[in-house]
Amino acid sequence: MEYHKLFFAILLLFAFLESFADAALHFHEFVIEAKPVKRLCRTHSTITVNGQFPGPTLEVRDGDTLVIKAINRARYNVTLHWHGVRQQRNPWADGPEFVTQCPIRPGQSYTYQFTIQNQEGTLWWHAHSRWLRATVYGALIIYPKLGSPYPFPMPKREIPILLGEWWDRNPMNVLRLALFTGAAPNVSDALTINGQPGDLYRCSSKETAIFPVEAGQTILLRIINSAMNEEMFFGVANHKLTVVAVDSAYTKPFATNVIMIAPGQTTDVLLTADQTPARYYMAAHAYNTANAPFDNTTTTAILEYISAPFRAKKGQSLKPIFPQLPGFNDTASATAFTARLRSLSKAKVPLEIDESLFFTVGLGLMNCTNPNSRRCQGPNGTRFAASINNVSFVFPKRNSLMQAYYQGQPGIFTTDFPPFPPVQFDYSGSVPRGLWQPVKATKLFKLKYGSKVQIVFQDTSIVTVEDHPMHLHGYQFYVVGSGFGNFDPKNDPAKFNLIDPPQRNTIGTPPGGWVAIRFEADNPGIWLLHCHLDSHLPWGLATALLVENGVGKLQTVQPPPLDLPRC
Ligand code: C2O
Repeated sequence: MEYHKLFFAILLLFAFLESFADAALHFHEFVIEAKPVKRLCRTHSTITVNGQFPGPTLEVRDGDTLVIKAINRARYNVTLHWHGVRQQRNPWADGPEFVTQCPIRPGQSYTYQFTIQNQEGTLWWHAHSRWLRATVYGALIIYPKLGSPYPFPMPKREIPILLGEWWDRNPMNVLRLALFTGAAPNVSDALTINGQPGDLYRCSSKETAIFPVEAGQTILLRIINSAMNEEMFFGVANHKLTVVAVDSAYTKPFATNVIMIAPGQTTDVLLTADQTPARYYMAAHAYNTANAPFDNTTTTAILEYISAPFRAKKGQSLKPIFPQLPGFNDTASATAFTARLRSLSKAKVPLEIDESLFFTVGLGLMNCTNPNSRRCQGPNGTRFAASINNVSFVFPKRNSLMQAYYQGQPGIFTTDFPPFPPVQFDYSGSVPRGLWQPVKATKLFKLKYGSKVQIVFQDTSIVTVEDHPMHLHGYQFYVVGSGFGNFDPKNDPAKFNLIDPPQRNTIGTPPGGWVAIRFEADNPGIWLLHCHLDSHLPWGLATALLVENGVGKLQTVQPPPLDLPRC
């Protein structure tokens, strides 16, 4: 108790001091609890934050500090992750279960405390414990420091657009069943915009999200893909979208009819209400790259001009106008969109590389001794798996990686993650069946503080090619190049964009292709690197980077908070 008082006294002192620099301190309580939520005609006991679904929107400025007390009143272990926040020297606030912390047990609490440093734009937060993030998520909006403007005309309104997925059952049970049978988890029953499926689903149209706009106004849509397993195309009928930022980093503005956004990513777009006053649908549906089942439904919300004639005159239809979205497998459109992204200003891309890593990412199949078993319901009596460089990541159970590392506890992980695949093969071609089974392990890759790192993610065609949205915690990286087929280390680097590549925290591998990222390992700690499709994460499509401390306090992980949960 005394510690806590002292702690808060110090915090208040800092708040006082910082008020001179316009930095604010935001205290919040996030109570994680089950609440009845009705969708698709049925009510489910849904895990929420403060009874809200989606959860509360956090609005802060660059430089502000957040202090969020997470109180677990649900019946599951939980952790919260602040997706895209760099958490400089502060992995303790990052949140992935068994990576930087042990879970918050039912009835327990943990206070996440962190400062936003040199980030502006749209991020989000979500549970990082099994499939709780299906309903435990919300927007995290970072405005520029007081007095510094956006690098684009000030919009009249700002609207967070959270794309999500809804299961007409408990998502935790969907995962549990899949992990038992070894088969793929059931696909969702609806896609959602701000928690609502929209007009095209049963029992939903009364609650479709409606966004009023005045003719002539320009508004900012902060689009977040918080879905579990679906990349999406999003568009608004008859309206151009001008992309100005992705993943809390500004981009050179460009106009487009449609965006493609992967789970984990955010895209900020300006929209000018310059069309005939009426009602227009905004809509999203899946961009599916795998040879696998997916949710092929379409979610909608309505952009409504305030001056539009709402009451239908006789014989007039007031059905909103529907946007044209690319087909479910339109990789050409997805690629064309992603290829247009550029950093707004000249980027500080590492030019000399200290660590050049080549990571194959993809699915796999675990053979069963008894293929007829109820536990081997994957293809041909196997269990689904996934891996990076043939290592299928196993999350520890006895302690979190970061706590084990900090306490010097052996036996929780090893640091021999391979920098390239153990066997070379035609990754995107036809892969011999003998290479389909990965090895389960908890291997981390160690990086020296300050090293300049390049990672090429190479999708494999094992089981199926697929766009895997790879997310790195604790960092923003530059996406310097991508292509289809196998990465060619001789010729492809010459085509890298080292001038103004986009900065992101999540980037997809083109299906059957590769993507290259660069960053400086200047944030010490253990940082999860994983596919943001939540069917792939429990199968092992992950690893973690262990970035060593540098010299002195400012290059060293700060001490853990006193209330950090123990396993
Ligand atoms: Cu948004 Cu590790 O996650």
